[in-house]
Amino acid sequence: MEKREKLYEGKAKIVYATDEPDKVVIYFKDDTTAFDGVKKEEIGGKGVINNAISSLIFELLNKRGIPTHYIKKLSAREMLAKRVEIIPVEVVVRNFASGSFTRRYGIPEGTKLEKPLVETFWKNDELHDPLVCAEHIELLKLADLRDVEEMKKIALQVNEILKAFFAAKNILLVDFKLEFGKTPDGKLVLADEISPDSCRLWDAETKKKLDKDVFRHDLGDLREVYNELLKRLQEEG
Ligand code: TMP
Repeated sequence: MEKREKLYEGKAKIVYATDEPDKVVIYFKDDTTAFDGVKKEEIGGKGVINNAISSLIFELLNKRGIPTHYIKKLSAREMLAKRVEIIPVEVVVRNFASGSFTRRYGIPEGTKLEKPLVETFWKNDELHDPLVCAEHIELLKLADLRDVEEMKKIALQVNEILKAFFAAKNILLVDFKLEFGKTPDGKLVLADEISPDSCRLWDAETKKKLDKDVFRHDLGDLREVYNELLKRLQEEG
């Protein structure tokens, strides 16, 4: 497998073509952004940690039968994935109130939600990823509503798998964001990354934040926190 031209560069990753038209290499950068790129910093080694965490989580999800783009980890900063066209609808699942949910609805941070809440956002930095419902998605032609239903269903399955996985590490899965894509043969798969950049994770006892909120709100050393998280996830049991 040979790495070829750059296809796309996002805020935290670069996607490269390969000599196989249906496969891409995803390269994890150290760039760390928040608030749609307004706050930006390079945090040495973050890409290595996020590739390791993302790979570990995608391996678990593949094993559990969730359709994903992930094929394998190639190197410290690279994973091999199926080539997809990303659907511009982000799916967020919340188990506890935090972030924009707390701001929007006034429910205090940390409140346990009676059942997992699934939300959809338009992936559009310029418009600050607005919350969209099925009617918006249809009107704005962002995605096929049958795909969105399937994405929400998969997101809830992912939530159950990851909640249990993190609980075994004494970590609460507060919320997370997923992105989906379509392979050239039209198959819907989970794509992008699943890392502390895209999840909120709290120590179950101390409620210490183990995710990008540490960077968003200047709560400490992000690299240290991400390293601690990776170590806990790699422990047996
Ligand atoms: P929110 O509370 O800011 O809406 O974020 C919900 C979850 O989605 C949280 O785990 C962080 C993640 N997220 C992203 O991965 N990318 C984004 O652009 C945003 C806004 C949130």
